[in-house]
Amino acid sequence: MNIAVRYCSKTKFGNTRRIAEAIAEGIGVNAVSIDDEPKLVEKADILFLGGAPYANIMAPELRSYAEGIDPGMVSKVVLFTTSNWSKRTVLALKKILKKKGIEVCEDYFFSHMLKVDDNLNAAKEFGKKMSMSN
Ligand SMILES: Cc1cc2nc3c(=O)[nH]c(=O)nc-3n(C[C@H](O)[C@H](O)[C@H](O)COP(=O)(O)O)c2cc1C
Repeated sequence: MNIAVRYCSKTKFGNTRRIAEAIAEGIGVNAVSIDDEPKLVEKADILFLGGAPYANIMAPELRSYAEGIDPGMVSKVVLFTTSNWSKRTVLALKKILKKKGIEVCEDYFFSHMLKVDDNLNAAKEFGKKMSMSN
């Protein structure tokens, strides 16, 4: 099974990157920034995709990334997000992906931006659990 972890992380704290790396560690793969790999190069059975809201919207490059996913390249997506309070990145990504006919798991991972350290282990377990149960 091929599992990919991709993220968009903008602040100097790298909150979403750190959660992505923990999820990837639980799976045993590398987390890759969409800045470094703007398009999936290999088919993924599961794509873990995460980002955060900035002034109420996700980064435009994450939106473009999601809109540009070839449905033939991804069987299923698992979402994750970090933020101060909002989970709207998950809702917005889900809407984009479902419109494209891509299956999105109901379960997603959320970490408050100030609780990243506390949530690394849970993120790792989430990655492990979701990759085994899907
Ligand atoms: C300019 C800016 C705007 C933000 N706007 C929101 C927001 O509208 N809602 C929210 O819940 N969090 C907001 N946040 C918090 C970020 O979503 C949060 O810090 C997130 O973990 C950042 O992820 P990153 O470190 O991976 O970039 C904002 C942060 C910044 C820097």
